[in-house]
Amino acid sequence: MTIGTPRAYELCGALCFVGRRDRAFSRLAELSGAEPGDRVLDVGCGTGCLTRHMAARVGRDGSVTGVDPSPPVLDYARGRKPRSGSARCAYQEGIAESLDQPDASYDTVVTSLMLHHLPEDLRPTALREMHRVLRPGGRLLVVEFRPPKSAIGRHLVHGGAGRAMAHHQVDLLDDLIADAGFEVSGHGDVRPWLYYVQARRTGQ
Ligand SMILES: C[S@@+](CC[C@H](N)C(=O)[O-])C[C@H]1O[C@@H](n2cnc3c(N)ncnc32)[C@H](O)[C@@H]1O
Repeated sequence: MTIGTPRAYELCGALCFVGRRDRAFSRLAELSGAEPGDRVLDVGCGTGCLTRHMAARVGRDGSVTGVDPSPPVLDYARGRKPRSGSARCAYQEGIAESLDQPDASYDTVVTSLMLHHLPEDLRPTALREMHRVLRPGGRLLVVEFRPPKSAIGRHLVHGGAGRAMAHHQVDLLDDLIADAGFEVSGHGDVRPWLYYVQARRTGQ
């Protein structure tokens, strides 16, 4: 399931985050642990909101690549200017479950609101791909939507964004990430709707 209408997605994002999207994504960039000069990959980058925040975080000496299967969102992302002092953002067409990127070629991999778009049986494959492209010691940040607890809240999300989002089981994420070979180092919530997991690729 890809996003075909980037402007509608942006509008929806602004509404769903009640004007706090930039603040939330800036916090996510901080939580990624990326450092100035890092090479960063954003898997399922969409319109590039997190990609641009990562570019600001790693600065001019860093590099950030966003990958997404949807040409319209990539075109939209290419048209947005990163903040001054940011790394350049490059965007490529691609899919999480079979990344074109070489082994061990990134210091940090981030992925936000993407995993629930994949069929369940492809999620472990996508996480193993993120493990493959990270250098040993590299960091992973996975961000997902935490569905509301109330039945009515889930019903509304189901109507607006579909079943996968309304019933996403974020509590299973930590184990899924560990099973892909990562060492999970932290997790938590970013208001209003986001759950994140921080992990590292250990070993060689
Ligand atoms: C809800 S959007 C999230 C976009 C962005 N990461 C954000 O947080 O705003 C999900 C994105 O995942 C992308 N996507 C869907 N299937 C994918 C796949 N197999 N591999 C990578 N990305 C995929 C969609 O095209 C879409 O841009």
